[in-house]
Amino acid sequence: MVVGAIWAQTPDGVIGVDGGLPWHLSEDLKFFARITIGHPVVMGRRTWDSFPERVRPLPGRQNIVITSRPESVPADGERVWAVGSYAEAVDVALGVLATEPAAGPETAPREIWVLGGPSVWRDAAAHAALPLTRVLVTTVDLDVPGDTHAPGLDAAWSRTEVQDWTVAGNGTRFRIDEWTRTPVR
Ligand SMILES: NC(=O)c1ccc[n+]([C@@H]2O[C@H](COP(=O)([O-])OP(=O)(O)OC[C@H]3O[C@@H](n4cnc5c(N)ncnc54)[C@H](OP(=O)(O)O)[C@@H]3O)[C@@H](O)[C@H]2O)c1
Repeated sequence: MVVGAIWAQTPDGVIGVDGGLPWHLSEDLKFFARITIGHPVVMGRRTWDSFPERVRPLPGRQNIVITSRPESVPADGERVWAVGSYAEAVDVALGVLATEPAAGPETAPREIWVLGGPSVWRDAAAHAALPLTRVLVTTVDLDVPGDTHAPGLDAAWSRTEVQDWTVAGNGTRFRIDEWTRTPVR
Protein backbone atom coordinates (compact mmCIF):
# COMPACT_ATOMS: atom_id res chain seq x y z
CA MET A 1 0.00 0.00 0.00
CA VAL A 2 1.31 3.44 -0.90
CA VAL A 3 -0.19 6.66 0.39
CA GLY A 4 0.71 9.62 -1.80
CA ALA A 5 -0.03 13.32 -1.81
CA ILE A 6 -0.35 15.42 -4.91
CA TRP A 7 -0.46 19.19 -5.20
CA ALA A 8 0.48 22.14 -7.38
CA GLN A 9 2.14 25.23 -5.96
CA THR A 10 3.94 28.38 -6.97
CA PRO A 11 7.68 28.67 -6.16
CA ASP A 12 6.53 30.60 -3.05
CA GLY A 13 4.28 27.75 -1.96
CA VAL A 14 0.88 29.25 -2.86
CA ILE A 15 -1.70 26.52 -3.57
CA GLY A 16 -5.04 28.29 -3.28
CA VAL A 17 -6.94 31.56 -3.18
CA ASP A 18 -10.58 32.31 -2.35
CA GLY A 19 -11.46 28.61 -2.22
CA GLY A 20 -9.99 27.73 -5.61
CA LEU A 21 -6.79 27.45 -7.60
CA PRO A 22 -5.00 30.69 -8.54
CA TRP A 23 -4.27 29.42 -12.08
CA HIS A 24 -5.62 27.18 -14.82
CA LEU A 25 -3.16 24.68 -16.21
CA SER A 26 -4.82 21.94 -18.24
CA GLU A 27 -1.57 19.95 -18.51
CA ASP A 28 -1.48 19.67 -14.72
CA LEU A 29 -5.16 18.74 -14.49
CA LYS A 30 -4.47 15.90 -16.95
CA PHE A 31 -1.48 14.78 -14.88
CA PHE A 32 -3.63 14.89 -11.71
CA ALA A 33 -6.27 12.74 -13.39
CA ARG A 34 -3.72 10.25 -14.74
CA ILE A 35 -2.18 9.75 -11.30
CA THR A 36 -5.36 9.58 -9.22
CA ILE A 37 -7.95 7.82 -11.42
CA GLY A 38 -8.61 4.29 -10.26
CA HIS A 39 -7.70 5.00 -6.63
CA PRO A 40 -9.44 6.29 -3.51
CA VAL A 41 -8.82 10.01 -2.96
CA VAL A 42 -8.99 11.73 0.44
CA MET A 43 -9.65 15.45 0.81
CA GLY A 44 -10.83 18.13 3.22
CA ARG A 45 -14.31 19.53 2.72
CA ARG A 46 -13.05 22.84 1.31
CA THR A 47 -11.00 21.05 -1.34
CA TRP A 48 -14.14 19.05 -2.21
CA ASP A 49 -16.03 22.35 -2.50
CA SER A 50 -13.29 23.76 -4.76
CA PHE A 51 -14.02 21.29 -7.56
CA PRO A 52 -16.55 22.42 -10.17
CA GLU A 53 -19.85 20.54 -9.82
CA ARG A 54 -19.43 18.92 -13.23
CA VAL A 55 -16.38 16.99 -11.97
CA ARG A 56 -17.70 16.33 -8.47
CA PRO A 57 -17.39 13.62 -7.33
CA LEU A 58 -14.10 13.26 -9.17
CA PRO A 59 -14.91 10.56 -11.72
CA GLY A 60 -13.28 7.15 -11.57
CA ARG A 61 -12.18 7.64 -7.97
CA GLN A 62 -13.74 6.92 -4.59
CA ASN A 63 -14.07 10.40 -3.09
CA ILE A 64 -13.56 10.44 0.70
CA VAL A 65 -14.28 13.85 2.23
CA ILE A 66 -13.28 14.84 5.77
CA THR A 67 -15.77 17.14 7.47
CA SER A 68 -17.29 17.89 10.85
CA ARG A 69 -20.61 18.41 9.04
CA PRO A 70 -21.32 15.20 7.11
CA GLU A 71 -24.66 16.59 5.97
CA SER A 72 -22.73 19.12 3.83
CA VAL A 73 -21.40 16.35 1.57
CA PRO A 74 -23.65 14.23 -0.69
CA ALA A 75 -22.27 10.92 0.54
CA ASP A 76 -23.70 7.81 -1.12
CA GLY A 77 -21.31 5.11 0.12
CA GLU A 78 -20.45 4.24 -3.49
CA ARG A 79 -18.60 7.21 -4.96
CA VAL A 80 -18.61 9.65 -2.04
CA TRP A 81 -18.04 9.18 1.68
CA ALA A 82 -18.13 11.81 4.45
CA VAL A 83 -15.88 11.02 7.41
CA GLY A 84 -14.94 12.83 10.61
CA SER A 85 -11.16 12.44 10.60
CA TYR A 86 -8.17 11.48 8.46
CA ALA A 87 -7.88 8.17 10.35
CA GLU A 88 -11.48 7.36 9.46
CA ALA A 89 -10.76 8.29 5.83
CA VAL A 90 -7.92 5.75 5.73
CA ASP A 91 -10.23 3.08 7.20
CA VAL A 92 -12.81 3.78 4.49
CA ALA A 93 -10.13 3.73 1.76
CA LEU A 94 -8.79 0.40 2.99
CA GLY A 95 -12.33 -1.00 3.12
CA VAL A 96 -12.95 0.13 -0.46
CA LEU A 97 -9.66 -1.33 -1.69
CA ALA A 98 -10.45 -4.64 0.00
CA THR A 99 -13.59 -4.99 -2.10
CA GLU A 100 -12.49 -3.44 -5.42
CA PRO A 101 -10.36 -5.21 -8.01
CA ALA A 102 -6.91 -3.66 -8.52
CA ALA A 103 -6.77 -0.87 -11.13
CA GLY A 104 -3.34 -2.01 -12.35
CA PRO A 105 -1.35 -5.25 -12.26
CA GLU A 106 -2.16 -7.46 -9.24
CA THR A 107 1.48 -7.22 -8.10
CA ALA A 108 1.51 -3.39 -8.04
CA PRO A 109 1.02 -1.80 -4.60
CA ARG A 110 -2.46 -0.38 -4.02
CA GLU A 111 -2.58 3.42 -3.80
CA ILE A 112 -4.46 6.05 -1.80
CA TRP A 113 -4.04 9.68 -2.91
CA VAL A 114 -4.41 12.58 -0.48
CA LEU A 115 -5.58 15.73 -2.27
CA GLY A 116 -5.23 18.25 0.57
CA GLY A 117 -5.55 20.85 1.93
CA PRO A 118 -2.49 21.39 4.08
CA SER A 119 -3.92 20.11 7.38
CA VAL A 120 -5.03 16.90 5.68
CA TRP A 121 -1.55 16.39 4.18
CA ARG A 122 -0.07 16.96 7.66
CA ASP A 123 -2.46 14.40 9.17
CA ALA A 124 -1.47 11.97 6.39
CA ALA A 125 2.24 12.48 7.08
CA ALA A 126 1.66 11.82 10.80
CA HIS A 127 -0.57 8.75 10.40
CA ALA A 128 1.08 5.99 12.43
CA ALA A 129 0.12 2.83 10.56
CA LEU A 130 0.10 4.07 6.99
CA PRO A 131 2.06 7.32 6.67
CA LEU A 132 2.54 9.35 3.54
CA THR A 133 5.64 8.21 1.66
CA ARG A 134 5.30 9.85 -1.75
CA VAL A 135 4.53 13.40 -2.82
CA LEU A 136 4.10 14.68 -6.36
CA VAL A 137 4.54 18.44 -6.59
CA THR A 138 3.84 20.50 -9.67
CA THR A 139 5.64 23.82 -9.44
CA VAL A 140 3.78 26.46 -11.44
CA ASP A 141 6.14 29.30 -12.26
CA LEU A 142 3.82 32.17 -11.36
CA ASP A 143 3.97 34.95 -8.80
CA VAL A 144 0.38 35.16 -7.57
CA PRO A 145 -1.20 36.06 -4.24
CA GLY A 146 -2.81 33.26 -2.25
CA ASP A 147 -4.37 32.42 1.09
CA THR A 148 -3.46 28.72 1.29
CA HIS A 149 0.08 27.34 1.23
CA ALA A 150 1.76 23.97 0.72
CA PRO A 151 3.25 22.32 3.78
CA GLY A 152 7.03 22.21 3.92
CA LEU A 153 8.78 18.91 3.28
CA ASP A 154 11.32 18.27 6.03
CA ALA A 155 14.76 16.62 5.75
CA ALA A 156 13.21 13.13 5.82
CA TRP A 157 12.01 13.73 2.26
CA SER A 158 14.30 13.29 -0.76
CA ARG A 159 13.61 14.57 -4.23
CA THR A 160 13.68 11.35 -6.23
CA GLU A 161 12.56 12.60 -9.59
CA VAL A 162 12.97 16.03 -11.12
CA GLN A 163 11.54 17.07 -14.45
CA ASP A 164 12.83 19.85 -16.65
CA TRP A 165 10.67 22.95 -16.87
CA THR A 166 7.97 22.60 -19.52
CA VAL A 167 6.03 25.43 -21.14
CA ALA A 168 2.27 24.78 -21.06
CA GLY A 169 -0.03 25.66 -23.96
CA ASN A 170 -0.99 28.91 -22.20
CA GLY A 171 2.67 29.93 -21.87
CA THR A 172 3.03 29.11 -18.14
CA ARG A 173 6.18 27.22 -17.15
CA PHE A 174 5.73 24.22 -14.86
CA ARG A 175 7.75 21.30 -13.51
CA ILE A 176 6.74 18.10 -11.73
CA ASP A 177 8.93 16.64 -8.99
CA GLU A 178 8.56 13.49 -6.93
CA TRP A 179 9.53 13.39 -3.25
CA THR A 180 9.73 10.19 -1.22
CA ARG A 181 10.62 9.25 2.33
CA THR A 182 11.04 6.13 4.41
CA PRO A 183 9.18 6.81 7.64
CA VAL A 184 10.89 5.98 10.94
CA ARG A 185 8.85 3.35 12.82
N1 LIG B 1 -2.98 23.62 -5.63
C1 LIG B 1 -3.36 22.45 -5.14
O1 LIG B 1 -2.83 21.42 -5.50
C2 LIG B 1 -4.47 22.39 -4.12
C3 LIG B 1 -4.79 21.16 -3.52
C4 LIG B 1 -5.79 21.14 -2.55
C5 LIG B 1 -6.44 22.30 -2.20
N2 LIG B 1 -6.09 23.47 -2.82
C6 LIG B 1 -6.74 24.72 -2.45
O2 LIG B 1 -6.68 24.86 -1.04
C7 LIG B 1 -7.90 25.44 -0.56
C8 LIG B 1 -8.61 24.44 0.33
O3 LIG B 1 -7.74 24.03 1.36
P1 LIG B 1 -8.05 24.35 2.91
O4 LIG B 1 -6.81 24.11 3.68
O5 LIG B 1 -8.68 25.70 2.98
O6 LIG B 1 -9.19 23.34 3.28
P2 LIG B 1 -9.30 21.72 3.27
O7 LIG B 1 -8.21 21.11 4.05
O8 LIG B 1 -9.56 21.24 1.90
O9 LIG B 1 -10.67 21.57 4.04
C9 LIG B 1 -10.75 21.99 5.38
C10 LIG B 1 -12.02 21.39 5.94
O10 LIG B 1 -11.87 19.96 5.98
C11 LIG B 1 -12.50 19.46 7.15
N3 LIG B 1 -11.50 18.86 8.01
C12 LIG B 1 -10.17 18.80 7.82
N4 LIG B 1 -9.59 18.11 8.82
C13 LIG B 1 -10.58 17.73 9.65
C14 LIG B 1 -10.61 16.98 10.86
N5 LIG B 1 -9.49 16.46 11.40
N6 LIG B 1 -11.81 16.78 11.45
C15 LIG B 1 -12.94 17.27 10.91
N7 LIG B 1 -12.97 17.99 9.75
C16 LIG B 1 -11.80 18.22 9.14
C17 LIG B 1 -13.21 20.64 7.79
O11 LIG B 1 -14.45 20.69 7.12
P3 LIG B 1 -15.81 21.28 7.78
O12 LIG B 1 -15.59 22.75 7.83
O13 LIG B 1 -16.86 20.84 6.82
O14 LIG B 1 -15.91 20.64 9.14
C18 LIG B 1 -12.32 21.81 7.36
O15 LIG B 1 -12.99 23.07 7.40
C19 LIG B 1 -8.70 25.80 -1.81
O16 LIG B 1 -8.34 27.10 -2.24
C20 LIG B 1 -8.21 24.77 -2.82
O17 LIG B 1 -8.40 25.20 -4.16
C21 LIG B 1 -5.12 23.53 -3.76
